[in-house]
Amino acid sequence: MEGEKRLPVAPFAAAPEIPAWRRRKIRRSKALRWLGLGCLAFIAYAQWRQLTTVDLPKLLQATPRTHLTPYGLSRKRLFDDLETCKRLSHKPQDPIGEGREKNARYIDGHVPTLIKNASVWVGEPVKGTSPEDARKGKGYEWITADVYLEYGLIKRVESAIAISAVAKDTVIFEAKGRPLTAGIIDMHSHAGVDSLPELWGNEDTNEMSSDITPYARSIDGIQPGDHQIQVIKSGGVTTSLVLPGSGNNMGGEAYVIKHAVGREDGRNETSAEDMLADPDRNWRFMKMACGENAKRVYGKVGEHGPVSRLGESWEFRHAFEQAAKLVREQDDWCAKAKHHGVAKLSEYLPQELRWESLGALLRGQVHLNTHCYTIPDLEAFVDHTNEFKFKIRAFHHAHQTFLVPEILKRAYGGDPPASAIFADNMWYKAEAYIGSEFAGKYLYDNNLTTIYVSDNPVLNAQHVLFEAAKGYKYGLPYHAALAAVTTAPAERLGFGNRLGKIKPGFDADVVVWDSDPLSVGATPVQVWIDGTMQFEDAFVLEKPLPKPIVPDEDLANIVEEPVEVGTVIFKGITKVLLDEDPRGLAARDNTYNVVISKGKIACVGACHSELQVAAKAGIPIISLKNGHLTESFTAFGSQLGLNAIDAESSTDNGDNTNVFSRAVDGLALDTKKLRVAHKYGVTKAITAPMFHGGITLHGTGVGFATGADTALDQDAVFADDISVHYTLTSSVKHAKDTPSMTSAIGAFRQKLVKAAVSLNASSDAPAVRYSETYYLHKVLNGSLPLVISVHSADTIASLLKLKSETELITSQRINLAILGGAESYMLAKELAAAKVGVVLAPFQSYATEWQERRALSGAPLTNGTAITRLLDAGVTVAIGLEEDWLVRDLGLLAGIAYANGEGRLSEKAALDLVGRNVYKILGTEKKEKRQDGHFVIFEGSPLEIGGRVKAVGGGVKGVVQVFEADA
Ligand SMILES: *[C@@H]1O[C@H](CO)[C@@H](O)[C@H](O)[C@H]1NC(C)=O
Ligand SMILES: *[C@@H]1O[C@H](CO)[C@@H](O)[C@H](O)[C@H]1NC(C)=O
Ligand SMILES: *[C@@H]1O[C@H](CO)[C@@H](O)[C@H](O)[C@H]1NC(C)=O
Ligand SMILES: *[C@@H]1O[C@H](CO)[C@@H](O)[C@H](O)[C@H]1NC(C)=O
Repeated sequence: MEGEKRLPVAPFAAAPEIPAWRRRKIRRSKALRWLGLGCLAFIAYAQWRQLTTVDLPKLLQATPRTHLTPYGLSRKRLFDDLETCKRLSHKPQDPIGEGREKNARYIDGHVPTLIKNASVWVGEPVKGTSPEDARKGKGYEWITADVYLEYGLIKRVESAIAISAVAKDTVIFEAKGRPLTAGIIDMHSHAGVDSLPELWGNEDTNEMSSDITPYARSIDGIQPGDHQIQVIKSGGVTTSLVLPGSGNNMGGEAYVIKHAVGREDGRNETSAEDMLADPDRNWRFMKMACGENAKRVYGKVGEHGPVSRLGESWEFRHAFEQAAKLVREQDDWCAKAKHHGVAKLSEYLPQELRWESLGALLRGQVHLNTHCYTIPDLEAFVDHTNEFKFKIRAFHHAHQTFLVPEILKRAYGGDPPASAIFADNMWYKAEAYIGSEFAGKYLYDNNLTTIYVSDNPVLNAQHVLFEAAKGYKYGLPYHAALAAVTTAPAERLGFGNRLGKIKPGFDADVVVWDSDPLSVGATPVQVWIDGTMQFEDAFVLEKPLPKPIVPDEDLANIVEEPVEVGTVIFKGITKVLLDEDPRGLAARDNTYNVVISKGKIACVGACHSELQVAAKAGIPIISLKNGHLTESFTAFGSQLGLNAIDAESSTDNGDNTNVFSRAVDGLALDTKKLRVAHKYGVTKAITAPMFHGGITLHGTGVGFATGADTALDQDAVFADDISVHYTLTSSVKHAKDTPSMTSAIGAFRQKLVKAAVSLNASSDAPAVRYSETYYLHKVLNGSLPLVISVHSADTIASLLKLKSETELITSQRINLAILGGAESYMLAKELAAAKVGVVLAPFQSYATEWQERRALSGAPLTNGTAITRLLDAGVTVAIGLEEDWLVRDLGLLAGIAYANGEGRLSEKAALDLVGRNVYKILGTEKKEKRQDGHFVIFEGSPLEIGGRVKAVGGGVKGVVQVFEADA
């Protein structure tokens, strides 16, 4: 059975035996013709013999005449070709789940496992639920059950499976009522081909020797030793589609792997082949990409295309034409062979390795995944599917699909492609400029399939489930959000009978979580792949007993745009988490009212008289469930206010690699990013000029209000120069005069020492105002903080030495802070002793670069993360943004610190990570007296997935933004 379903790995597979009847028939009917041909051959041979000295008997022995057809073709090869015809016409089916005795990946000797007392998410509604009800989420629920795993399969999912009823050697795992789901599936990963930390020598994502490389295969570059494969698994991801990159239009073949590698993970061998999720290879997979990448990354004017989307479509169509021609010729050959007998054919089966895989796509044997962001890209590609008659399983990076469901529904084959998207990562290039965090919900409303993916290492796939959680936050129903990383990708990959559900017959890829999987900070307690436990010494976070999320249908009532009002009243505030306890808090039933007047908080508490006045004046009153009043958030270290589209230089302030400048001089306000920041409660930002990408900064930082339209608005800028920034990440090697780390640190020391000497003598020659020395003097006399972008623990060590050397000269303390800090935890004690604060950016580093390679990825793989180690040592920590799109997520990142902090942080202390602590670290907390009018009102907790912004006071224009359908 399984042998028949196997697809050709290479076009020239092993030859079949020629059946005896066929051999006989050929001998009888063709003996005479053979004789004639033999004579001809002899004449030809005699001619040729004159030119060579080959020994005749030996030649005949080597190629017996009976092995050749009348056309002189190899009979063996012709029959091989005929066998290939069978494979060419094969129509793959999704491999079966139920009915297997063993998982084909099962390794003999592995013992069964019984997971007791789990709260199980089956992945489908209860029997009898109508499709309409199921779509709405009815019939889905968490059930209490035991799960029995045997032979790499889920064998039983029942309540109270008796230990006496399972095999004697069964391992028992007590889930203690915790949530259990199927392993998470990431349908867009480059794990293994883009190994972390990134090294040129290990980078095999994209074969860029040509724009059209359907023949390239990601499996040929998968490094089983990529540590990130383990990190990803520690986030409950058991299966990934490893795609080639999107630098060229046709990237090549992709492979579905499971994240169990080598003997340590219970496998027989360390190989990419051993990681294949379907050893029988029923389906093949391919990656293509349209839009910006191919023309920017690959095309070269005057050398080769494409250099425009027009050229890209031509490249696609031309390639499909070649493959279609090959398919046609092969089909003709196979039809002739069948009709006339293969031995009568005058040529072999046409084959061309270059077009083999693309031909297989046209034959319906390949699941195609195409990277396309924009409407023209989607439309052109759908046009290709209809011109060449092939199906597409999913558009990836499908930022604009939610705008054009009808284009998707036009795709060839009557099965509209799914949209594989990020929850809220956007703005990084022009084609990512249009996008919506509500896209998942809007697609779902159009009966289209939403799938969340990581594009690892673009996002850390360890946290791809967090994308689904945010999808839920942004209005996708709870069951559909979970489906978006389980059943939906399983179905699209052709694994619908095997992966994504907890049902008998499915592969035993199972995760037990420490909290509801869609809650903030959800972390696996244990992971099984094909029934084998993956973390022998799992670190388990101490958390209270998990409570399942009750799906909140209100989240689907999206109010995209706020209204601005001066005066409004909120009722139902259950928590006030402000820096200073507001006076006059008179709790009534433990809920408060908040009265806002002219954009400022006028009263918090009972507010009797204000309410009476308001009632008469007809002031709007908004009632909240579990309202929270908090300080607004501050974005630190981003390019907000200096950039609109990351990769578009005309929208960007530009690099400051070789110059020191002031951010306040370049403030560019009223951008989409800033409007979003404000809507999500980030009303303040501290931004410095970029040095050379990422969190690298150079110059002075400006503190400004994200809600301002121009820098001249009242209260637009609250600090012209709030911080002084330098960079000592490996990017520093981009600067003209510092090609090495040693030269960079040396040059920085020279700067500081020179400034220290001139400061000591400065009474007679003060530095020129606004010059670099002027700001360095302020750093040295302690009136401005020095913020260094740095990740490596080694560089931080050098920096701490440099700090004390300089302080010896001036006898004054430098207020040093670190931005980045992936490895800062290694020097937590020293940083605490030197009173150096750390702004973590990213908050959860995943060692993308060498300088971050010792980053801690957290439970169940590591004991703690950077923040827990820093907090334990007494370091002041804040959370920064290494990319601007994260601005929506600041509250949730604080939520992760809270949920996974094992009691280290109160709710207020967690919120301080994205507000007050920034000012504490900069040493400006006292100077910046609380700015009136900066606050946020949430429905639900800002630290939890279901919390959403209801009102934002941004301190400008005397208004608040209110998100209420009828406000
Ligand atoms: C794994 O190795 C064992 C022993 O070498 C062998 O019996 C078994 O067939 C192998 N299993 C797989 C799935 O390769
Ligand atoms: C299941 O786990 C919960 C939570 O630990 C516990 O209260 C309950 O008693 C357990 N049930 C069984 C049958 O062990
Ligand atoms: C989605 O499907 C449902 C039921 O099949 C149908 O009633 C509804 O009109 C569809 N919605 C759209 C936008 O196509
Ligand atoms: C994990 O680290 C903490 C300190 O943060 C320590 O107290 C604990 O013993 C460690 N746990 C293990 C299992 O190593």
